[in-house]
Amino acid sequence: MVSDQLFQLVYVSRCSVPMSDEALHAIQMDAAQRNREAGVTGVLLYGHGSFLQLLEGTKAKLKQIFGRIALDERHQHCSVLYFKPTHERSAGSWSMGVLHLDSSRSPIPLDQMLRYFSEHAEDPTFPDPVASLIYHFEKLTSETETEAA
Ligand SMILES: Cc1cc2nc3c(=O)[nH]c(=O)nc-3n(C[C@H](O)[C@H](O)[C@H](O)COP(=O)(O)O)c2cc1C
Repeated sequence: MVSDQLFQLVYVSRCSVPMSDEALHAIQMDAAQRNREAGVTGVLLYGHGSFLQLLEGTKAKLKQIFGRIALDERHQHCSVLYFKPTHERSAGSWSMGVLHLDSSRSPIPLDQMLRYFSEHAEDPTFPDPVASLIYHFEKLTSETETEAA
């Protein structure tokens, strides 16, 4: 029997080549289309030559999609930080939301996002690290959009 239990996977990786906004956009378009078909949601953050990506979906779909992502030559050293079952999606509104951390007026380093991901373990407002990551992703996305407007 195939389980429909949802899982969340977070990994970091190093970029093989510097990413322009266009190159990131190309990954986003391709990923969003495939993820939509697979019922997968998530976000991708890029900063200072590294990626941090959250993927949500059934275990079978995540294995399939992450299996392909890990082989992609555009990045290397994929390291899974988090892989756990969940009752609900944190990134349900995105088939693949993308944030270029170096592009905002006050660029923030990816390791700060990593800290957001891990540091709220004791904070009751953020009972899980993925919720914390998404909170900051949404905040930064709206600030970046406001700056661009
Ligand atoms: C950083 C990064 C993130 C990616 N995220 C996704 C994703 O969320 N979903 C997806 O289907 N492909 C994603 N891709 C693209 C896959 O690695 C791969 O190119 C795509 O699934 C096609 O695989 P195939 O050429 O083996 O058919 C990503 C690629 C990179 C470099």
